[in-house]
Amino acid sequence: MTTLQLIQSRKQEIQSPHGGLLINREPAKNECEKLLKEAIQLPSLTLSKWSLSDLELIGIGAFSPLIGFMGQKDYQSVVHELRLANGTIWSIPITLSVSKEEADQFEIGEDIALKGEDGKIYGTLSLLEKFGFDKSIEVKHVYGTQDRNHPGVNKVFEKGEVNLAGPITLLKRPDHSSFSEYYMDPRETRKMFQDLGWKKIVGFQTRNPVHRAHEYIQKCALEMVDGLLLNPLVGETKEDDIPAHIRMESYQVLLKKYYPMDRVRLVIYPAAMRYAGPREAIFHAIVRKNYGCTHFIVGRDHAGVGDYYGTYEAQELISKYEAELGISILKFEHSFFCTACGNMATEKTCPHDSKDHLHLSGTKVRQMLQAGERPPVEFSRPEVVDVLVKGMRQRES
Ligand code: ADX
Repeated sequence: MTTLQLIQSRKQEIQSPHGGLLINREPAKNECEKLLKEAIQLPSLTLSKWSLSDLELIGIGAFSPLIGFMGQKDYQSVVHELRLANGTIWSIPITLSVSKEEADQFEIGEDIALKGEDGKIYGTLSLLEKFGFDKSIEVKHVYGTQDRNHPGVNKVFEKGEVNLAGPITLLKRPDHSSFSEYYMDPRETRKMFQDLGWKKIVGFQTRNPVHRAHEYIQKCALEMVDGLLLNPLVGETKEDDIPAHIRMESYQVLLKKYYPMDRVRLVIYPAAMRYAGPREAIFHAIVRKNYGCTHFIVGRDHAGVGDYYGTYEAQELISKYEAELGISILKFEHSFFCTACGNMATEKTCPHDSKDHLHLSGTKVRQMLQAGERPPVEFSRPEVVDVLVKGMRQRES
């Protein structure tokens, strides 16, 4: 093989980013310092934690091919067609919604400094468009419901009514110092996979502690690929989800004791949870593709909440787009512990009656923990339960 052929074959092995190019909206260090100084003079807007995390994820390329907050054409196309205006699959609107009064302060064509709630400047937006939008239509298409009891739907209704759109520049990343050891951007994960020699990498999204069902499907996947990227979402979640710092501790004890660490990497995904079920499964897969994963797990009721989505609705929707998505979707049936088999199983692998099957929902586990009860070992590893019990106690005190 010639050197050129070798380079070409290496290139083909690397997962291509969504839309073909890994976006980088961070200027070089010197330039960044200069822009930060200039940004002090700009009109400014304070972002919610949610929008700040979107800013970061656009800036570091996790949301490639987006280079900014969506304009009206992309927004309408995403809501109605599940695609960007240029036809690229995209399932969740990434918009910067502000009140009408805030929107009126800015002129089209100007740059706006984007601040965090701490008053620091994190980036800038070159304002190209301001547009109103119909929230009930957005939620109907994206979340499949207009019910305000749905946490994602409620978020949309709480937002401002005007979207500000345009390319962004990321001048400072939000602080992830509590998880700094586990923070990597898509460029870094891609390089890490290359250095590790992993060609097939499966991404795993979670907003929960890793329970036995999660472990089972991750390990089934590990039988087929080179490595697992355990990529828990640590941005905003709903009030009653287990906080990220407690989950992170539980992942560490679990990995240490039960996983082959040469084949697993734990990296945080600093995004907000939308709970958009099927549409969010597609979004999650796209983002993990940008982080360099070649495979992505979609199990039972992925990114669902309450009874808004059917058990396999996310799998059904993503299957329609899988060929175009450019990442292989590993779909797993609802898994449970079967007392007759004495192990984890699914309907595909277990012949026993449902009375032998132990199903515990995340909600039930949270209720048990709050009541001071330990979830059984068939549901959660004792080491994980220890961390959760301790975390919940500290939270209450
Ligand atoms: S999510 O909102 O981040 O999707 P969760 O952390 O519960 O929630 O799930 C992470 C992944 O594991 C998702 O792909 C989900 O479909 C899958 N999953 C969760 N529980 C089970 C289960 N019992 N059987 C099969 N897949 C599951």
